[in-house]
Amino acid sequence: MSSYVTRKTPGDTAWFRHDRFGMFIHWGLYSMPARHEWVKNREEISEEHYDLYFKHFNPDLYDPKDWARRAKAAGMKYVVLTTKHHEGFCMFDSKYTDYKCTNTPAGRDLVREYVDAFRAEGLRIGFYYSLIDWHHPDFPIDMLHPRRDDPDAFQQNQGRDIRKYAQYMRDQVTELLTNYGKIDILWFDFSYSQNNGTGDKSWMKGKGKEDWEAEKLIATARKLQPGIIIDNRTELEQDLWTPEQYQPVEWIRHGKTGELVTWEACQTLSGSWGYHRDEQTWKSPEMLIRMLINTVSLGGNLLMNVGPTSRGYLDYRACDALDVYANWMKYNSRSIYGCTMAEPELLPCCPADCRFTQSEDGKRLYVHLLAYPFAHLQLRGLAGKVEYAQFLHDGSELKMTEGKVDHFSEGASKADDLLVINLPPVKPNSIVPVIELFLK
Ligand code: GLC
Repeated sequence: MSSYVTRKTPGDTAWFRHDRFGMFIHWGLYSMPARHEWVKNREEISEEHYDLYFKHFNPDLYDPKDWARRAKAAGMKYVVLTTKHHEGFCMFDSKYTDYKCTNTPAGRDLVREYVDAFRAEGLRIGFYYSLIDWHHPDFPIDMLHPRRDDPDAFQQNQGRDIRKYAQYMRDQVTELLTNYGKIDILWFDFSYSQNNGTGDKSWMKGKGKEDWEAEKLIATARKLQPGIIIDNRTELEQDLWTPEQYQPVEWIRHGKTGELVTWEACQTLSGSWGYHRDEQTWKSPEMLIRMLINTVSLGGNLLMNVGPTSRGYLDYRACDALDVYANWMKYNSRSIYGCTMAEPELLPCCPADCRFTQSEDGKRLYVHLLAYPFAHLQLRGLAGKVEYAQFLHDGSELKMTEGKVDHFSEGASKADDLLVINLPPVKPNSIVPVIELFLK
């Protein structure tokens, strides 16, 4: 069994660490300007103009069954959809607001169709819910708010009561966790209590757990869905650590106790979460696969994001990226599901340009070849430990020698603890070939 033990938390995280790979979906009115989901903040778009998106939101090509099929094919085991992002627009039929999809030309509960479709494909269901709300009349204006630079911002802010807003969140979380069956993940986003205004904006306050009444909010969620996984972004530590848009280089640890924690890197296919028509920094197929491998090799999960168009489909670039995962995962998912960081004593055996993962039961070690070596893979420290080796993608045997590279030339590598895997000269047709080692 794996010797790594993660910090105990209230939610049920065992399935999560096994499944490793999920789909994030950022979808809302911001898919219409198609210039990033923060567009209302960045461009300080007026309410009047933003209302045009509400008026014209018509995802006539929304086909969540297609999304779900693609996610499943990509090897994703769970999914998290923005039920409400910072813009405040609700993708579900809430009793507590008119600012919701049922009042747009969309005319139906988009969350409901999402839940049904993904559940039918066997994926676990998550809800992202924004703590920030740039539409709610009781959400106080702050440094992130689109109205922060309005000449009458101070006047607009009079009478806003964050306690009413906190109640609104509890009411909506209650709806979300009551009306859609079993929900596995609740992804709150995010706190910024240090981000206070200065000078003539010093009345603008950042927001955190006190403002959200996070204790009560989380208690509400836990009562309705006891095993649910909740992230840490309310500022109250829960189940999930969420490094965003960077690749950790070691297993994330608890800041105070140093314990290993359950963590999930969230990443985008390009440089935006919401659909961004003109953004060009789409990740290469190699990078997409590597990010998944890197994450699992450090005991983490990857939540990879798609931003559907306002008409409700995944554009060709997103589909291509999902196909990259599908093609690789079809043959290599065994090195991902139920796998984690290799045991500490094996880690030093990992050659340059490789990444290890190891099955939870400890019996199989997976070597991911990020750069394909010529003819031999030399693994110091593994001599005597491997019973059988094969390529994972086609289950074809890889011959091994021990003690030295099998060649007459003087100076060929030699060492008692050396295991050499003999590889075909040409890289197999796989972005990252994987070697499966059955340990003795
Ligand atoms: C950030 C952004 C946001 C995105 C999220 C995903 O906090 O505010 O737009 O939803 O990260 O992790």
